[in-house]
Amino acid sequence: MAKAPVIAVVGSSSMDLTCYAEVLPQAGQTLYGNLFTTGFGGKGANQAVMAALAGANVYMVGSIGNDLFGTSLQENFKNQNVNSEYVKISSLPTGVAHIWVDSQGQNRILIVPGANHDFDENHAAQAIKLIPDLAIVIGQCEVPQSVTAAAFAVAKERGALTILNPAPYQELSSDLLAVTDWLIPNEIEFEEFVGSAPTALTLAQFRNGNQSIVTLGDKGAVLVSPQGDLTNISTNKVQAIDTTGAGDCFIGSFSYALGSGSDPENAAQFACRIASISVTRKGAQSSYPSAAEISTLS
Ligand code: RIB
Repeated sequence: MAKAPVIAVVGSSSMDLTCYAEVLPQAGQTLYGNLFTTGFGGKGANQAVMAALAGANVYMVGSIGNDLFGTSLQENFKNQNVNSEYVKISSLPTGVAHIWVDSQGQNRILIVPGANHDFDENHAAQAIKLIPDLAIVIGQCEVPQSVTAAAFAVAKERGALTILNPAPYQELSSDLLAVTDWLIPNEIEFEEFVGSAPTALTLAQFRNGNQSIVTLGDKGAVLVSPQGDLTNISTNKVQAIDTTGAGDCFIGSFSYALGSGSDPENAAQFACRIASISVTRKGAQSSYPSAAEISTLS
């Protein structure tokens, strides 16, 4: 049996506080919702848990608070087989995300980073230096970019691949881009990065010389080769009830497949398949297929 790829995620861990409602309120309006849930989230933790469910050997590098949410997140890492020895315990509160989901499954999210912004370049770089047999390091934009850049720089020195999901979008530093192998935005992040929507032309000109994927929600994804060749990846048509964490699901499963030796096209197909399952269920991590379920997919 092939050895599980070792993946480190440098990123956020948060508690998701989610309200579901038919219609979301406008400013100054009060409406009834129909369900409230607390769930495990944070883009980094979601990607880590998804990669572990798919079969990777995963290390989380980040920071959580010394509070009830932090204790639950630690417990969750243990239950999901994610190594949390490089998750710092901060004096700041654990990060939270306030999420509203409407009847179309679309969400609006407000994040309060708390402890997610309380770990530094040295902590991340040291962790990446020490993790044995490292194949891939994943980052996003819910922790300071300088921390991700420091981790990626060490990863590159070690010969590991780096994958950046620029979410939530912010202008990316040249330091971070210089050490990013794969850039994987969604279509909104692509538009913010490039200044225009994804079309055959804008996609073909995206980061020439580098590998990228642009995820397109229910339209699948497009793989952009270093030469600007485009490969469309289709996805199953499903009835979406909650898209929270679907992008993270894609990143975690893509990274696992790539680290296991799949070519990028097959890895992206696998990731689209898993992400299309996640949108049919509520929540972020709670919507991801289990390891047993993944093993039944042909
Ligand atoms: O990508 C989804 C995640 O974004 C949620 O789990 C929430 O924590 C926010 O960070």
